[in-house]
Amino acid sequence: MKKILFVCLGNICRSPGAEAIMKALVYREGKEKEFFIDSAGLYGGHAGALPDERMRRHAAKRGYELNSRARTFYPSADFAEFDLIVGMDDQNITELRRLAVNATEKAKIFRMIDFCQRSTFYNSVPDPYYEGPEGFEIVLDLLEDAVEGLFRSCLASQNNSV
Ligand code: 4NP
Repeated sequence: MKKILFVCLGNICRSPGAEAIMKALVYREGKEKEFFIDSAGLYGGHAGALPDERMRRHAAKRGYELNSRARTFYPSADFAEFDLIVGMDDQNITELRRLAVNATEKAKIFRMIDFCQRSTFYNSVPDPYYEGPEGFEIVLDLLEDAVEGLFRSCLASQNNSV
């Protein structure tokens, strides 16, 4: 069982998008028993809220239903629970590294953009919150690309460890 936590700032745009896209892929591939997927935000101001309405609308056009509720990242519990903690941009990564208390925790931190196999233009998944509709489409393109890469990489590491 691979446990993956997607992390962004508010947990209302990028990380719930990543969560829904990854869950859809895992389901499509019949691997529900092998993955546990969740998301969290480093800023807790939106805790309890549904994903941003714009994100929900853009994701729905691609067939993803975003219905998770925002929650704060809990450093000790989340570093203990999850195998991979995947941040969306460099600010998220810097903050996650600051919160990690040892090398084992630090080794669980990954950059979402590093799993992209097709997109090469961006070096992070940019915050769409103050952007227009195109910002959300860019985020969804990057998330779909990265989720596929992450999924393949998890399956490959599973096969290597048997
Ligand atoms: P997210 O987007 O980190 O992708 O969920 C944001 C949501 C809210 C805020 C910033 C980014 N905010 O400043 O409230």
